Amino acid sequence: MAYQIPRGTYDILPGEVEKWQWVEEQMRHACRLFHYEEVRTPMFEQTELYKRGVGETTDIVEKEMYSFSDRGNRQLTLRPEGTAGMVRSFVEHKIYGQPQPTKWYYIGPMFRYERPQAGRSRQFHQFGIEAFGSMDPALDAEVIALGMHLFQSLGLEGVRVELNSVGDAESRARYREKLIQYFEPYKDELSPEAQSRLYKNPLRILDSKDARTKEIASAAPSLFDDLSEDSKMHLDRVKQYLDEMGVHYVINDRLVRGLDYYTQTAFEYMLDLKGAQASTIGGGGRYNGLVKEIGGDDVPGVGFGIGIERVMLALEEQQIQVPNQNRLDGYLITMGEQAKAAGMKVLQVLREAGFQVDRDYLDRKMKAQFKAADRAGARYVFILGEEEIAENKIKVKSMATQSQEEVSLSNLLDWLKEKA
Ligand code: HAM
Repeated sequence: MAYQIPRGTYDILPGEVEKWQWVEEQMRHACRLFHYEEVRTPMFEQTELYKRGVGETTDIVEKEMYSFSDRGNRQLTLRPEGTAGMVRSFVEHKIYGQPQPTKWYYIGPMFRYERPQAGRSRQFHQFGIEAFGSMDPALDAEVIALGMHLFQSLGLEGVRVELNSVGDAESRARYREKLIQYFEPYKDELSPEAQSRLYKNPLRILDSKDARTKEIASAAPSLFDDLSEDSKMHLDRVKQYLDEMGVHYVINDRLVRGLDYYTQTAFEYMLDLKGAQASTIGGGGRYNGLVKEIGGDDVPGVGFGIGIERVMLALEEQQIQVPNQNRLDGYLITMGEQAKAAGMKVLQVLREAGFQVDRDYLDRKMKAQFKAADRAGARYVFILGEEEIAENKIKVKSMATQSQEEVSLSNLLDWLKEKA
């Protein structure tokens, strides 16, 4: 029996994992700069949380959740996204009783039963931030800017922000009726998916991928006309603050997000990938009713989720080199049992002093040990044989210059510190 990894999942092996570590470090760094704190919530929650939070008629809840009942017959779901869990945690720990705003972030795996393809998997990873407790449009601007700061710090070029307002609950209800009226005469021409959404969630027809549906949708009324003065003003302010911060954006009045909780601000980070259509690398917005919906006070929120797989694809496509922090400072080559034992001590001393060092564990010939040192990208090779032991010395060879010298064994650490 040969076991295989489940469809839509993949392993991140050495060679690749360093890139992930670096990207995650840039994310954590951005959060420190903007003063967001990490929160870790469980990888599964009550199924009901996502039904309520994300919305019954969304793709996620209708067909993408990994749901199961545990041995105690609890209905649980592997988290398909991060916001609902963050809100649950915010409510459960009564964080709304503390001074606001609350600014949180998370990095971790999410699960959606989707058709796997490049940049889309069943276990994928998100970096997300959620800011609770303020209606201030400056906070929306900060959230959008944090994502852009991240892309910049990664060296990614060409990411653009598409921005819209999906209004408040009342204006969306009005708009919903208008859309149904507009689409009804075309009903038979719409894609089967759009047809099934017509009465349940007509806004989602606007971001259909089907060619004919798209064509019909292109002439649909715009939500802008139904926006309340409040929502319009909010959007204007967000734009003004973004201008002030030098964050570029384009208004896209067709932008609707796939999750039900959004109010007012909605945005996506888009990146044109070669050969493929523009890809959504992340998205987010405001969700002013969600905390209440989940059982808390009437506390507003705003945030985003960025797909790390898509960030990795973009880094690859733009050939961005990631610093490798696994490079060895030194590789120890020993000959003979006595040298081996002394070498163990050398390694221990160097490691405790903070140097990255390794050695051979297969009793290989000297030449093979040199090869291993080279493969590991070691800066120096330390050579310890019987002769060196007798003289209390160690040979040090620079892999870059191939120059070699002898150092007193007790001085090796100081010698290395000087070179570092
Ligand atoms: P979302 O648009 O569903 O929003 O997902 C955010 C990002 O996650 C997407 O733009 C994409 O990059 C990535 N993503 C989604 N599904 C997959 C997949 N199957 N494979 C790879 N990447 C994927 C949310 O999840 C919201 N919780 C974002 C948010 C936070 N809104 C407010 N706060």
